[in-house]
Amino acid sequence: MPATTNGKRPVNLAIIGATGVVGTELLKILDERNFPIGQLKLLASERSKDTVINFRDKDYPVEVATKDSFKNIDIVLSAAGSIINELAPAAIEAGAIVIDKSSAFRMRTEVPLVVPGVNDSAIHNHKGIIASPNCSTSQLVVPLKILHDLAGITRAVVSTYQSVSGAGSDAMEELEIQTHNSLHGQPLEPKVFTKQIAFNLIPHIDKFNKDGYTKEEEKLIEETRKILNLPQLAITCTAVRVPVLIGHSESVLLEFARPISVEQASIALANSDLIELWDDVEDNIYPTPVDAAGKDPVYIGRIRKDNSSANGLHLWVVADNLRIGAALNAIRIAEYLLEHKLLRQPVAS
Ligand SMILES: NC(=O)c1ccc[n+]([C@@H]2O[C@H](COP(=O)([O-])OP(=O)(O)OC[C@H]3O[C@@H](n4cnc5c(N)ncnc54)[C@H](OP(=O)(O)O)[C@@H]3O)[C@@H](O)[C@H]2O)c1
Repeated sequence: MPATTNGKRPVNLAIIGATGVVGTELLKILDERNFPIGQLKLLASERSKDTVINFRDKDYPVEVATKDSFKNIDIVLSAAGSIINELAPAAIEAGAIVIDKSSAFRMRTEVPLVVPGVNDSAIHNHKGIIASPNCSTSQLVVPLKILHDLAGITRAVVSTYQSVSGAGSDAMEELEIQTHNSLHGQPLEPKVFTKQIAFNLIPHIDKFNKDGYTKEEEKLIEETRKILNLPQLAITCTAVRVPVLIGHSESVLLEFARPISVEQASIALANSDLIELWDDVEDNIYPTPVDAAGKDPVYIGRIRKDNSSANGLHLWVVADNLRIGAALNAIRIAEYLLEHKLLRQPVAS
């Protein structure tokens, strides 16, 4: 049996989407955090069936994910999109808990949607599946929860500036190729995105709904309401894709029921283990995506009084979408399950 860390028993883990950009980050963070792993199964699609991934000095062949992939598995970390709809019932049947990064289950009432440090207690209500939010939601709810507890948020207006890694590895490659081609006078061919992304930005992420909002904007709105348990919160969003490789940024205007000063907000946010405040405009201190890439905190700067409302504050919120927005959030949920001895017993066969 492999050695345990922090007194936790090693966990049999399956990762669906192990070859993707979030899957790669999952493996990196599991190692960084010494996550206690017993058996490890790396799963992806047919496309990757000859791939081998090295993890902690051992080679793992990538297997095609099927309903038979989950024997003896404690936790399934899924970062593979909607295929989890087909696979989750078999994983649960085998006794595993599924932590899913896709939007497949997030808004189902029986599925907890969790950002550890914001609404951990929801994990206890799981029935085999725990959903991890959209990347732009995960970083947003961290300051919103703290400021809501302080002064009662009555309205939120969010504009996102989302990096291409939020759309996966093909999107990162598209930005790199288009940047090169653009600088060398070669033709640009949008494939992943609807328009040129190099030296441009695109006010369109996911599909358009009938009301003119995009699915991405709807996800941020609905998921924020669910995580904060504020189903009536007045919140609106415009989501924009920008030519940044890693790191989502958000301009956030919050209006409050009670007066709140910049100082009160700053002290409360700085007290959180999840947040780093970078806020000193006199010295040009504010976070950018390049500062946040590869790091764990949610970075906050540019906190200022809103000049157009009575009790309003502006924030600039930046985080690594692949970490807090995806892989790190899922691993923190897994760590919570271990910490609170909430693993199920894999079904023997
Ligand atoms: N990127 C982010 O910032 C972010 C943030 C939050 C949530 N998410 C969610 O995380 C998931 C993965 O995103 P990503 O950015 O890592 O995308 P990606 O780089 O395109 O990777 C997709 C992964 O899913 C696997 N996959 C696709 N279809 C599959 C199937 N039918 N069966 C098994 N595996 C399959 C792929 O395997 P092959 O390589 O074999 O095709 C690959 O490993 C998506 O649901 C996404 O919405 C992403």
